[in-house]
Amino acid sequence: MRKQWLRSIERLLKSRAMSLRQILIHPDPRLKKTCPPVAEVDDAIRKLADDMLETMYDAPGVGLAAPQIGVMKRIFVMDCDKEEPGLAPVVAINPEILWASDELGVYEEGCLSIPDIYEDVTRPKQIRLRYLDLDGKTQERELDDLWSTCAQHELDHLNGRLFIDYLSGIKRTMITNKMKKLKKELGRT
Ligand code: NI
Repeated sequence: MRKQWLRSIERLLKSRAMSLRQILIHPDPRLKKTCPPVAEVDDAIRKLADDMLETMYDAPGVGLAAPQIGVMKRIFVMDCDKEEPGLAPVVAINPEILWASDELGVYEEGCLSIPDIYEDVTRPKQIRLRYLDLDGKTQERELDDLWSTCAQHELDHLNGRLFIDYLSGIKRTMITNKMKKLKKELGRT
């Protein structure tokens, strides 16, 4: 009886155990696609969110979207608490921007799929974000400054858009060539 119980606990722990996922590097066709919505928030989605958080913290980064690990679903995680405490971490499933401020903010953005490149991007300073949480409940949150920038950057990933798409064509080509070289050096195809 106890053995059986131990085995079931073991199985449970194993199924909840987090694992690091490989982060795709630009250019990759999966980073240019629009992801379909999550149909149901189930254990597989919760496990995916755990993996994404662990992968993001390990990188380390402040945000990660599912397509960056090759999972084509509308889900992202973020944690900007170090810079701006209060909210973290956020797991946003099927996120949508309900409102964006006219006021703009500029942040030097980076991306785990475009390592060691940082460029200024202008975006709305505040947004209202609606999403499903890990219980499948609808949440709405006002986000400011870095949190707002991060959420917009991650939501862009779900629509196949990268922060370098906001830069000039010349800059984008230069960065893309640098990343192609990096991928070659890393033996990534
Ligand atoms: Ni990114």
